[in-house]
Amino acid sequence: MLLPPQIGRQSLQCSKISKMEKTVLLDDSENDIVKASEMIKNGEVVGIPTETVYGLGADALNPEAVKKIFAAKGRPADNPLIVHICDISQAETLAYNIPKLFYTLAENFWPGPLTMIVPKREIVPDETSGGLETVGIRMPSHAVMRELIKKSCPIAAPSANRSGYPSPTTAMHVMNDMNGRISAVIDGGESRFGVESTVISFDDDSTVRILRPGSVTAQMLSEYAENVIIDDAILNDLAEGRDAPSPGMKYKHYSPKADVKIVEGDYKAFAEYAKKIKSDNLYCLIFDEDDFSELDMNYLTYGSDSTEQAHSLFARLRELDERNAGTVLVRAPQKDGVGLAVYNRLLRAAGFEVIRV
Ligand code: TXA
Ligand code: MG
Repeated sequence: MLLPPQIGRQSLQCSKISKMEKTVLLDDSENDIVKASEMIKNGEVVGIPTETVYGLGADALNPEAVKKIFAAKGRPADNPLIVHICDISQAETLAYNIPKLFYTLAENFWPGPLTMIVPKREIVPDETSGGLETVGIRMPSHAVMRELIKKSCPIAAPSANRSGYPSPTTAMHVMNDMNGRISAVIDGGESRFGVESTVISFDDDSTVRILRPGSVTAQMLSEYAENVIIDDAILNDLAEGRDAPSPGMKYKHYSPKADVKIVEGDYKAFAEYAKKIKSDNLYCLIFDEDDFSELDMNYLTYGSDSTEQAHSLFARLRELDERNAGTVLVRAPQKDGVGLAVYNRLLRAAGFEVIRV
């Protein structure tokens, strides 16, 4: 089927949830935020909006509540959760031996999409840290999330997708994955950035190691840190025998049902390759400015620059599943700046399969 251009270029509405038996959809009113904070204080799990992606939030210091997050997601117990705070003083109650650089980066990038890993205090349960002696801490900027933390407690939250599936960037995505599995979802609008936070650890007082790239880029970090190392596992499958510096690296990620392949090359070569293997359930995911009339086949677009691509990538991967795409050829994004985050998610969605044309 050839899609008319107006369909190819716009996002499909997410399929409506026909029944909401157990999971309540809340809005961003004061009243509903209070309701959600009560649920969290009661040890329940709530779908929460953040500026990166939606999360599944629960009381970070309550092991029983945290276990419910793992059950709802189907997440392996050794994959730790990020703890979200709304005030820097909370970091000190959760962690010790915090390097000076942590504070410098907090001053410059918090509230925002940066998670920093530091040694955890005993108050952080093993359930939250996945058995590690460290904890990842982030102060989000989304107003609803900040209000929710203020009214409740530090909130542990992974992305709100079923384990292995693309992260959700709207409340409807969360409902699609979690309806009946959690108490409520707060609709706080579309996530601004669209990819998860940058995760870093500290090799020493002046060196940060990026374990997961995000919207706080290596270039941005290098304005404050003497050395910024991009971990090998960001662009390569974890080397055999190497311990994962971040447990998330071990697991399959961001995968829609379709078979995703990254195609690296200019648009002309991309289109030629796509035409050669064209079939009914083959889709192309290309840039907005690419000339779709060259293709004569199914396609969607995911923006022009890295910021737009980060914003829409996960929504497009979900949309491709709704359309029953079999194989998806994705035009490779840039690999620098925020583009590195987009490329890293695509590499995992594609199981590291890259075709060079
Ligand atoms: O933007 C985000 O970070 C979102 C929103 C909800 O805040 N959260 C998120 O969480 O993406 P999650 O659990 O889907 O991804 C967190 C990643 C995982 O790969 C996990 O292994 C890693 O961070 N991580 C968390 N704590 C860690 C720790 N103490 N040491 C090493 N890696 C850690
Ligand atoms: Mg995740």
